[in-house]
Amino acid sequence: MEYRDKVVIVTGASSGIGNDAARAFAERGAIVVAVARREGHLKDLVEELRRVSPDSFYLGGDLGDQNFAQEVVRETVHRLGRIDILVNNAGISKHKQIYHLSPDEAEHVMRVNFLSSVWTSLAAIPHMLIQEGGFIVNVSSFAAKVAPPREAIYAASKSAMNSFTEGLWGDLAGSNIHTAIVNPGPIDTEIWDKEDEPAAYDGPKYPTRIVVDAIFEVIEKRRREVTAPKWNLQLVSAQVMKLLAPGVLQAGMARMEPVPPEVIERAREKARKESAGET
Ligand SMILES: NC(=O)c1ccc[n+]([C@@H]2O[C@H](COP(=O)([O-])OP(=O)(O)OC[C@H]3O[C@@H](n4cnc5c(N)ncnc54)[C@H](OP(=O)(O)O)[C@@H]3O)[C@@H](O)[C@H]2O)c1
Repeated sequence: MEYRDKVVIVTGASSGIGNDAARAFAERGAIVVAVARREGHLKDLVEELRRVSPDSFYLGGDLGDQNFAQEVVRETVHRLGRIDILVNNAGISKHKQIYHLSPDEAEHVMRVNFLSSVWTSLAAIPHMLIQEGGFIVNVSSFAAKVAPPREAIYAASKSAMNSFTEGLWGDLAGSNIHTAIVNPGPIDTEIWDKEDEPAAYDGPKYPTRIVVDAIFEVIEKRRREVTAPKWNLQLVSAQVMKLLAPGVLQAGMARMEPVPPEVIERAREKARKESAGET
């Protein structure tokens, strides 16, 4: 695969996996459009990228907003004339007791993690059709495979992303637009520090490089789906248990991060008060 002068949009490029992916594409000679909200981080990144890829630039904004997500593709094509690779990587975590999750938070997670990738993909597909080819890589999560404790809405947003991508495999057949899923396991990025209610997971965290390698693998080998890391005993056994012994898997996860009885009691008390206030 020749990346020189290919136009690559990387969302969520201000930190973590997206930041490393943007650098890796630029090092291979691609022109990178780096997208996220924190413009200071993007400015620093693009200054660096321009040393090897002078036409790279950034677009700052909120991908949870449909207009901005579409604008990212419009502006890229306006400035560079094409889009070869779209990496939908921007995302937020949401680890909290279900009793504490508000409807607005749930909608926000779906907008940023799932709908933004639908909006950018739908905007990019017509351009890729005209160019007679392109790649859309969706950075999802292992949570799409096995929902971790207290992450119902996060897992749902990533499962939706995976199902949408699977649908595109059939729907884009014959167009030469390749779509792929990368499912990271636990990766050492700042996403873990952004939790409202910290996760109990304290196992090993892998370097971002393994996800970046997986992004290049799905492009170069035209793979449909790759999990990174590929061989982690905990992840593989969770998937097998989900198929063969889902009850045992649930019991294991409940032991790992139980719901404290006082959390249920407080939620029940709140529900009672609200119910009494409403009637
Ligand atoms: N780290 C892990 O263990 C892990 C595991 C599985 C999946 N993932 C997935 O990998 C992807 C990258 O995460 P990461 O670990 O690299 O975390 P990260 O360092 O927190 O990066 C998340 C990126 O998404 C951007 N972003 C968040 N909300 C946005 C919004 N509304 N509009 C535009 N950009 C937004 C952030 O930039 P701004 O804040 O500047 O907007 C940041 O650049 C995410 O989709 C995540 O779900 C990560």
